[in-house]
Parts: sequence; structure tokens; C-alpha cells
Amino acid sequence: MINYFDPKTQASVSNSTKDFGTPAPQSSVQVRLQIDGVDIIVPEGTSVLRAAAIADINIPKLCASDNLEAFGSCRLCAVEIEGMRGMPASCTTPVREGMKVQTQNDGIAKLRRNVMELYISDHPLDCLTCPTNGDCELQDMAGAVGLRQVRYGFEGKNHLDGATDSSNPYFSFDDSKCIACSRCVRACEEVQGTFALTVAGRGFDSRIHAGQNDSFIESDCVSCGACVQACPTATLTEKAVIDNGQPDHSIITTCAYCGVGCSFRADMQGDKVLRMVPDKNGQANQGHSCVKGRFAFGYATHQDRITSPMIRDNIEQDWREVSWDEALAFAAKRLNDIQEKHGRNSIGAITSSRCTNEETYLVQKLVRAVFHNNNVDTCARVCHSPTGYGLKATLNESAGTQTFESVMSSDVVLVIGANPTDAHPVFGSLLKRRLRQGAKLIVADPRGIDLIDSPHSKAEHHLKLMPGTNVALLNALAHAIVDEGLEDKDFINSRCDDASFNQWLEHIKNKRHSPENTEDITGVDAQELRQAARIYAEAGNGAIYYGLGVTEHSQGSSSVMAIANLAMVTGNIGREGVGVNPLRGQNNVQGSCDMGSFPHEFPGYRHVSDDATRLLFEQEWQVSLDDEPGLRIPNMFEEAIHGDFKALYCQGEDIAQSDPNTQHVQKALSSMQCIIVQDIFLNETAKYAHVFLPGSSFMEKNGTFTNAERRISRVRKLMPPLAGKEDWEVTVALAKVMGYDMDYSHPSEIMDEIARLTPSFHGVSYDKLEQLGSIQWPCNEQSPLGTPIMHTADFVGEQGKFAITEYVATPEKVNKHFPLLLTTGRILSQYNVGAQTRRTDNQVWHDQDVLELHPNDALDRGINDGDWVGIASRAGTTALRARISQRMQPGVVYTTFHHPLSGANVVTTDNSDWATNCPEYKVTAIQATKVDEPSRWQAEYAQFSQRQQQYLQNKRQGQVADK
Ligand code: SF4
Ligand code: SF4
Ligand code: SF4
Ligand code: FES
Repeated sequence: MINYFDPKTQASVSNSTKDFGTPAPQSSVQVRLQIDGVDIIVPEGTSVLRAAAIADINIPKLCASDNLEAFGSCRLCAVEIEGMRGMPASCTTPVREGMKVQTQNDGIAKLRRNVMELYISDHPLDCLTCPTNGDCELQDMAGAVGLRQVRYGFEGKNHLDGATDSSNPYFSFDDSKCIACSRCVRACEEVQGTFALTVAGRGFDSRIHAGQNDSFIESDCVSCGACVQACPTATLTEKAVIDNGQPDHSIITTCAYCGVGCSFRADMQGDKVLRMVPDKNGQANQGHSCVKGRFAFGYATHQDRITSPMIRDNIEQDWREVSWDEALAFAAKRLNDIQEKHGRNSIGAITSSRCTNEETYLVQKLVRAVFHNNNVDTCARVCHSPTGYGLKATLNESAGTQTFESVMSSDVVLVIGANPTDAHPVFGSLLKRRLRQGAKLIVADPRGIDLIDSPHSKAEHHLKLMPGTNVALLNALAHAIVDEGLEDKDFINSRCDDASFNQWLEHIKNKRHSPENTEDITGVDAQELRQAARIYAEAGNGAIYYGLGVTEHSQGSSSVMAIANLAMVTGNIGREGVGVNPLRGQNNVQGSCDMGSFPHEFPGYRHVSDDATRLLFEQEWQVSLDDEPGLRIPNMFEEAIHGDFKALYCQGEDIAQSDPNTQHVQKALSSMQCIIVQDIFLNETAKYAHVFLPGSSFMEKNGTFTNAERRISRVRKLMPPLAGKEDWEVTVALAKVMGYDMDYSHPSEIMDEIARLTPSFHGVSYDKLEQLGSIQWPCNEQSPLGTPIMHTADFVGEQGKFAITEYVATPEKVNKHFPLLLTTGRILSQYNVGAQTRRTDNQVWHDQDVLELHPNDALDRGINDGDWVGIASRAGTTALRARISQRMQPGVVYTTFHHPLSGANVVTTDNSDWATNCPEYKVTAIQATKVDEPSRWQAEYAQFSQRQQQYLQNKRQGQVADK
């Protein structure tokens, strides 16, 4: 990869976006050939088109692209090959040893001009006013072949009156410009795996249809943008380009949404982001994207952004806009006063998995070095804290083991408690590609997810377990494996700890774990479970992917350990195609955990009571540090309600909406004397705040994110921060006002400090990130270029440890008052609490959360599709519209939590994981009844929310009297 420096933005931009025409083959056999007299050696299976492109001989092409299988329809890439008749298409012709190819002569030139003449004779000649003028392959190719005139005229049969479909909010389809090359159709099939487009008709009548000639919005299209990228004409074009023209420069950065961590090329016009195009060199996404990263970035400049610091004495007051200095002084005084009066442990902070590694690192440093306690926690507490605990206890490292690309070597994939096509869509597309190639899929999920029956692939088994029974199911799989002698004895003997294995074996062999004896618990047929166990254990490469449907349970940590046990007992660790792969929720949830956001751990997962580690940090930070673990988020709430925890600095996290048992959270927030929220919007938590410090979106800062593969990628500043400060600068300023000097001039210096103090980051630097594009930690003396696959030789210097994972039923039980189990999840178009996506056109796909329920449950209750349904649990009551769905099994209902007024977390309970306190969002016993209107909580909250919006609108200039 060649990099050059963008002088305007001081950012590095990859320019290796050359399209080689056809994909690179996987072959170690080399073939020598000659193209235009140039000798070239390429792998067997390479197309002549690609081989020429490698030698910098650029053959004209239209229907070919190096992310799609060759199709051979346009004929523009014709060449002559010694010994072959005619002029074969170079894109569909593989190289052969000794081949001699000629890419240019009069005959070839004439053929290409004729081809282009036919295309252009059926194409509007409006180049000067066309939105893609200057960025159009058709235009480029007309120039490349030297087309000067069109002999056929434009009067005959043509498609020039083709209609435009503008139904998609982000791109339009102008049929009059379509040359029917089918690149869009193939992109939708091969890259995205949705199969939303077809070529209808034949020959001259070939036209592209979405679905059965539906509009794009009505079709199965998931708006990933792959077809838009693939289109060589202006037919499929972003509306932003149609409205604003072409970009003037580009900067590579990283998506701020999910844990896939896609790399994007931000195409800019001045300081304005025109469009985001997935980066072809992106090592996590390889040029693909989903609707969120590709299109839903407008929130960053939404009118709701708050760009001035604000303060107020109490939460029933108008906000006052003040200077940064005043706001920080106000916050610092309150924090200092509270500590003086109520003790060192009366304050704390929450870091965000939406912020960068550097920002997160600074917040935990602020807490430990300036607040002088360890009261720091992160939103990972409520999603993947069991992953950290469970994988550390078994595999000796709190992280997933593979690259995403590794799934292309998997033979059997077990997806449990995850919905990749909605929550991790780019990985979902990759997985679907592997499934279409023949890998087998086992899904364990209470609900039918899209992956189970997607175009050209079906799950071998859908283990439709009851919510809350993951551990019983995983134990039953392990039991079946050892019962049938399918364990990998060599792996266990050579790689795993004997004592822990023998103990575990005794435990798991017990008949209480058998598929037959757990059938009543899980609801999964014993024979089907045994078959699933066999195909996973007997796979050449078996991989497990899991998500919040595993972790967000009272036994989340046990499930993670049971997954690690399964992988170890079958030897599915330490090479391509296998492994234990947590699909992380937020973009930087891995990073926020790595950076020491938990109250008991310094960066790099080292306990605060470890003297040597503490000394290291004390020397670097020049303070003495507390050796007692601090408060977790739920403990902060408890202590706040008891009156012992008085102040919270909350950066980029909306606990009032995202944490369970909303009314309990609201009570805790209302009990505190000082809440400082740093965010880009007045989020739900900010409605309880006394200080609002305006945050910067991912577009306004430099830093790094770490994705679910442990991949550290650069976040690059696209525009100046709207409020004048990047988030890390705010934390630095707060520390200084509180009397502690943090001295950094750029986030790269923060990363240098992290690298100095953290063994798994010793080799990480911004310079190296510029060179390599991204780095998967550990990156240190042993692995200077990073570690794509973990545990290849050992488990971080140790042997793998099997853990006893007894199934203990959740205390949350159904009874006659609460006979249904509610489970929650996400959908593709919205993201987490929706603060970002609700402020984009993604709203057209999901403008409210609904309650999905099985037809039988709906019938029993007289509920029709679209009715209001009251949802009552032991924690609270809310109401949502009903959606009757065959995806659900009887007795189980489902909703998302993207809209604050839905109150999904009003009904979720305080139950949490035994080891980490991760809330049990996935199991709540409820009753559903037909109602006429929203719940009392919803009515009251709507009023509260409206009042808070009014306080914002009434905001005034100036200081408040600090009481
Ligand atoms: S946007 Fe994506 S899903 Fe929609 S038609 Fe294009 S490739 Fe297919
Ligand atoms: S829409 Fe674009 S990519 Fe699709 S067939 Fe037409 S010209 Fe080709
Ligand atoms: S898959 Fe995740 S990281 Fe990639 S574009 Fe979508 S939201 Fe962003
Ligand atoms: S590029 Fe080869 S036939 Fe179109």
C-alpha cells in the first residue's frame, strides 16, 4: 500500500484503490506469461485482465471489477492471444504458462470502439450536467478507446426515457443511464449476499429490477451501498453527490458504529463530509459497508448538536451557556467540594465505547490519578464484561481469537446469541459468502434470525432454545461430544491444563448435562442437539461466533467459559477458520476494556491490587494509586440511592436509556448532586445533568478504535470540532482545573504512553499504524506486526484452562402473572440507544420499537398487528405496538431498544451476571395485554423530556450561582 500525506488535513490517504478487474486467486502455483512483450509471473487462476493490470497494462473494461467474479458481458476487454481464435475477453480468460497476449492493435481498438459506440448510442449525452461527471467509468472508457462519433444516431429503439427511482433516502437509480452491465446485481449477490436485484429481460431488453420490479425501498434491499459503488455509470448515485457535486479530497477513517470497525474513505468538500465510501484497503471490511457507516453519518452535523458548554444548579432549571473555562471550573469545584464533604469515594466516572482508546484511557487516568479512587466503569459492563471475564479465565486473554477473514476457512460455524446480519452486517455478509460456498451453519437462538434462511444458504440446525438456557445448551453440546468420544485428545493433551480438564470432564460427563436430560430446560430436541454437536466436533475447522444473547444473562460469564470449553475440547483454537469470536457491540468496546475502564483493572487487564503494575503507573503518573477496586456501574447506582455516591462524570454514554430497570437508574441519577455529561446531544442522561460538556463526533477528532478482532485502526479528524475541543482535550482540561497536569499535544502521545505501560501494546504507535493500516494486538517485541490469530502456540504463555460451568436457572421465572419471556436485540438500521441513527434518514426503516410476538400468543390475548400492547414486568410497565411474527416461538416475545420512549429498559430487571454484573437484558418475565395508549411511565417521561427540552431552548448566557 502506498500512502501519501494530505497537506490540507494532515492526514494520510491510501491511494492504492486500483481496480485489478478480477479477484485475486488463491494459488501457490505460479504461471509465467507475456503481455505486450512484458514478462510477468502471476498465481495460477489469475485472469489475463488482472495479470495485465498487475504489470500496469490497463485494458479497458466495464463489466469487470476486482471484487466480483468475472462475467464477460461488455466485451470491452477483448485481447488477442497467440494460438487462440478471435478476441477473447481478458476478464474471463485465465492465464496459462507461456501465453502471449496482445492488448493493443488496430483490430482490437476497432472492436472496443464499436462496443463503446453501441453503449453510448443508448446513453444520455448529458455528461456536462451529469452528477458523476469526472467520476464515471463509462466516460473514462469512451475516452480510453478513442470514441469520437456515434454513427447510429439516437432516434432508434433506446432506453433514454427510463424512469428514476428515488425511493431510497440515500441513493437513486436512473434507469436511462443503465448499461445493463450487471455489476450492481453481482455486488448485491456476491458482496452483500442479499440478492435484491435481478436482470429482467434479455439482450437489448435487459433491465435491472429491484425485487419483482419493486421500488428499492419496497424491495429486500438493505441499503448497504455495494451496488452504488459497483456501478460504472451515474445510474446508481448517492443523492449527496447529485445534490452537491464531486468531492475535492478524501481522508481514511474508521466507522463509529459497530464492532466490525469498517474503514471508510471520507470524501470531502472542504470541511463537509460528502459521502463515506468503504475503503478497499480496509482490513476489517475489505471494501464493504452497511447502511449505518455508509450513509447514516448526518447526525454528526445535525441541528440537535450542542456546541457550547452549559451548567445549571439543579435539573429543574434552564441551562446556562458558559465558556469552557467557566464550565470546567464549575465542574471541578463541585467534584472537589463533594469529595471534601463526602469522601474520596463519593465520585466516579463512566467511559464510553463510542469514544477513542486515547479518550477512554484519559478518563480512567483522571479517575485513578485525580479522583484518587478506582470508581471507573464502562458501558461494556452492560454488554461484554462476561467476555472479558470468561475468556481470561479459560484462554488467558480477554479478547476474541480470530480475524473476521478467518471465517472464510471455517467448515462449520456455530452462531449463538448473535444476529450478525443486523448487528454486525459486514461480517454477516462475509459469513453468508462462506455459507454459500458450502460451510455448515448451526444457529442457537430463541428467535428466527435472517441467517437461518438466507438466499442460497440455510442453517443445518436452528436450536431454538428458551431464553436463559444457554449454559444448559452449551453443556449439553459438550456432554454429547465427550459422550460420543469426539474430543480432540491431542489438542487437550498438548495445549490444555490436565487438572482443569479432568475436573471438567468429570463434571460434564454427568448425565444431568445430557441432551436428553436438558431437553426440558432448553426446549431443544436431544437428537437435533446431538447432531449439531457432531457436526461441530467433526468439522475440520469449527468456529463459534457469539454476541449479547450470550453475555447479557445472569450466567453470561458461565456461557462464555462454556464456549471456550467447547472450542478447546474439540481443538478448535489457534489457527485460521476456528476460534472463539465475541461479536462486540459498539465500535470501541474492545478498546474501552483494553484501556482499563473497569474498576478493578489497569490498562491491559492487570488488577489494581498488583503492586508491580501499580508502581509502574504511579511512576509514570507521579501519584500514589488506590489498590482497592472501585465501584461498578450498578454499585454506583446503589450507592447514589443510599446517599454515598454523589457525582458522576459520564463521557459518551447514555446510561438513562441503555441500562436496565430505568426507574431505578432515574432514581440514582436524581439522587446525585453533580452529573457531568460529555456528549454530542442532550441525551437522556443529560436531562439529569448539571454540567454539559459538548462532545466531538468521530469526524472531529484524531484517535484510534479497536474492533472485535483486536484491530486498532486510526480515527482521523475530518473537520474541526464543532465545540472547539476534541473529547480528549476536555478530559485534559478538567484534570488541569482539578490540579493535575496532563500534558499532551496530540492523541499519538497518549498512545505512546499506553504503549509504554501496556505489554500487549508495547509495539503500537501512530507511525506504525500509518505503515500497516491497522494492527491487531498483542503487538510487542514478540509480535512486532501484531497478532491476527491468537493462541497459535500457547494460551499467552499458559495452558488452556477448562472451567466448570454448572447451569443455574435465572431467578427470573415465568408464572401466571408474567407468563411470557421478553428478550431484546437490535435491528440493522438503528444503532444501540439510537442517538445517532434516529437523527438520520435511517428512521424510514424503523421509527419505533415494536413488540414481536407469536401468532398464538397474540390470538390468546386478542392482539392484532399494530395494536398497542401493554408490557408489564416485575420492574415496570411500558407499551409498544404489536408485530405478529412467525420468527418468535410461543411464550417468547422480543423488542428493540432504539427509542427512549419505548421504555424497553423500564421492564428489564436488576438481575445480572454472577461474575461481572452484566445485566440480564435477555430474560424478563412479562405479561402482554392489549391496551389503548402508552403506559403511565411513558406519559410521565414524555412530560419530563419535554420540560428538559424547554430548559435547553430557554438556555441563557452566563454563570449560575453555585450553591
Ligand atoms: S444497496 Fe446493497 S442490498 Fe440494496 S440493492 Fe444495492 S447491493 Fe443490494
Ligand atoms: S445500474 Fe449500474 S451497475 Fe447496474 S447494470 Fe446499470 S450500469 Fe451496470
Ligand atoms: S458493519 Fe459496523 S463498522 Fe461496518 S459500516 Fe456497518 S456499522 Fe459501521
Ligand atoms: S470487462 Fe471483460 S467482458 Fe466486460
